[in-house]
Amino acid sequence: MKALRIAALVLAAATLLVSQSRRSYPPDRIWWNANQPGTLPATEDYDNAEGMVGIVNTAGAVNPVGHAFFEALGTNGRACITCHQPSNAMSVSVESIQGRWHETDGKDPVFAAVDGSDCPSLPQEKASSHSLLLNRGLFRIALPWPPKSVTPDFRLEVLRDPTGCNLDPKYGLTSPTPMVSVFRRPRAAANLTHLTKGEDGDPAGILIMADGREASLRTQAVAAILGHEQAEHLPTKEQLAQIVAFERQIAATQSADIRGGLLTEPTAPAFLGPDRVTGKVAAFPSWEQHVGPDLAQLQKDFRASVARGSLVYFKGKVSCASCHTPSRSATPMNIGVLNLATPDESTPLPVFKATCANGRIIYTQDPGRALVTGRCTDIGVTVMQQLHGLAAHAPYFTNGSAATLADVVDFYDKRFHIGYTETEKRDLLNFLKVL
Ligand code: HEC
Ligand code: HEC
Repeated sequence: MKALRIAALVLAAATLLVSQSRRSYPPDRIWWNANQPGTLPATEDYDNAEGMVGIVNTAGAVNPVGHAFFEALGTNGRACITCHQPSNAMSVSVESIQGRWHETDGKDPVFAAVDGSDCPSLPQEKASSHSLLLNRGLFRIALPWPPKSVTPDFRLEVLRDPTGCNLDPKYGLTSPTPMVSVFRRPRAAANLTHLTKGEDGDPAGILIMADGREASLRTQAVAAILGHEQAEHLPTKEQLAQIVAFERQIAATQSADIRGGLLTEPTAPAFLGPDRVTGKVAAFPSWEQHVGPDLAQLQKDFRASVARGSLVYFKGKVSCASCHTPSRSATPMNIGVLNLATPDESTPLPVFKATCANGRIIYTQDPGRALVTGRCTDIGVTVMQQLHGLAAHAPYFTNGSAATLADVVDFYDKRFHIGYTETEKRDLLNFLKVL
């Protein structure tokens, strides 16, 4: 079946009919609603613009009824699955979000005022009140400021507030419960299988979320249920165990490429495809070709490009792998996504001015880890991201500032003054598309 579908996809690409071959699922099948009956099979593939994303559940098929990841546990009709969709590699793409807006006239629970809008105080029926979610796939994350239990070594002011939330009398920095609102992409709730086990199988000592504010999947789930799902009661021990177990079972990576063919066949590089994911990727000098003669050249060129791209990734002037380690042990760092060089730089996001104890002034769209540690040196610092299933969940970076993977490559090229050739850029891009 899968081989047939991908052969059709490859053929479609070859004949420039890519757009017609996409979206072979009815919409209700692509988008999982909370409390939706059915089965999440042990393996499943979903079409996307570059091919297919594959999901593998190592524990077998899941019945979502009564399952804490799939059931709305709070008051706003959302479940974990609402923002962590299998067809989007367990994140959610801006394309899916826009689709939901059109299909439900903005009524889908994903748009809940609490964090699915620019600010809960805005008129919720208007698309413009959900601009950051609809244009960039960003949810509002509201964190107390100053943080509980630390005294920050910098002062935070709101310089620009396009969403109105940071200056809002009820939700803002000067409200009775002072909060900072930043806007972030959902990170993938998948490929966590191989992390070291802590208590009850929960990975221990890892930094979760862009600012690393959670240290275990269990505390993360509690916060998501009380926050994103607006629950009035704490989840039970059983519900938490069920969520953590599910997150540790599920792998999501690209499984087929419209030019490269199946990424899961035995001759493909050994770490591609959801059934082989360990978080590790490796450089490979070549990749054999495997499908019918008509498509031979297209496929051969693409695979050779991906193989060269793996070398750019590992051995280029800047090694991507030096930071993107599989263990998630990399120290959080500032790669220049959140801070601004000047306060006038254009952005749809809020702009904060931080004045540090040593007199340093930093302009930022999101203080990142500093919202947790209160340290000036952590302003704009974020936790590293995994790089699987990328083709399924654009846009990229914590604040969705890279609309496409090509923008990601351009960002690094400029940021680290790499000076990639056009071929190197394309090769690296093709490599990122198959991960
Ligand atoms: C309204 C959308 C939404 C819902 C519902 C939601 N999440 Fe998330 N999730 C996010 C966002 C946004 C982030 C990133 C937050 C950040 O970086 O500060 C995230 C991050 C995560 C991460 C972190 C992954 C990493 O690599 O650090 C995990 C795990 C996760 N969510 C699991 C869950 C679980 C479990 C539930 C249900 C209990 C859930 N989420 C419900 C939006 C959502
Ligand atoms: C100095 C460390 C470092 C290097 C080198 C590095 N990255 Fe990153 N990368 C990060 C951090 C930290 C993040 C998280 C930032 C964010 O998402 O806002 C990130 C995020 C990303 C993302 C976003 C993923 C998503 O789902 O949004 C992609 C894609 C990516 N990096 C690709 C690359 C590629 C390709 C290279 C090599 C050209 C590279 N990185 C080199 C540290 C690094």
